[in-house]
Amino acid sequence: MRIDIITILPDLMRSPFEGSIMKRAIEKGLVEVHFHNLRDYTTNKQKSVDDYQFGGGAGMVMQIQPIDDCIKKLKSERNYDEIIYMTPDGETLNQKMANSMSLLKNIIILCGHYKGVDQRVRDHLITKEISIGDYVLSGGELGAVILCDALIRLIPGVLSDETSALTDSFQDNLLAPPVYTRPADYNGWKVPEILLSGHFAKIEQWREEKAFEHTKNRRPDLLE
Ligand code: ADE
Repeated sequence: MRIDIITILPDLMRSPFEGSIMKRAIEKGLVEVHFHNLRDYTTNKQKSVDDYQFGGGAGMVMQIQPIDDCIKKLKSERNYDEIIYMTPDGETLNQKMANSMSLLKNIIILCGHYKGVDQRVRDHLITKEISIGDYVLSGGELGAVILCDALIRLIPGVLSDETSALTDSFQDNLLAPPVYTRPADYNGWKVPEILLSGHFAKIEQWREEKAFEHTKNRRPDLLE
């Protein structure tokens, strides 16, 4: 998978890709992440990428010209499956979306700022709008990092068997069951007996029951 990220803050975004699973995925050649500084595409002398909104009102709006030029350049080099805009009024990201998007080959992610982008960007250039939740961030960058993390760990070959994504929360619409490690008894706080029994079928059944119980208590909406 190739991910092209268009942002005014490329330096803010780099470090999450320089550690842990995203770093390993990049090193294994399973994903390429490229940052494009929007200011490199502006044609005005001040290098500004925003302007006052027509009709008045508080807050600046990101202009169409640098965004269009950057997207045009990328599209002249390869085909893209999706051109995504991170915005609080987009479709809320969930595991099902992450699963299907992890199979895409090339995507562009545009990070918004200020009051957002000129509506013509959304009408004519963007193919998908994604929100990471019902709250407003100062820009789309952190949302884009979250989206990338959710997608990259699902790319086949990124996770090893021990860290398989199949047992994550939200796969099968269930939250994950509790997990324990040594010591089996910590100051009298004991690990459930069943997990020490070595009886794998029973352990699997216990985990399913716990996952169901946990989902029913915390997120009954997932069971509907
Ligand atoms: N930009 C600002 N807020 C956002 C959100 N909740 N999700 C995605 N992008 C955003």
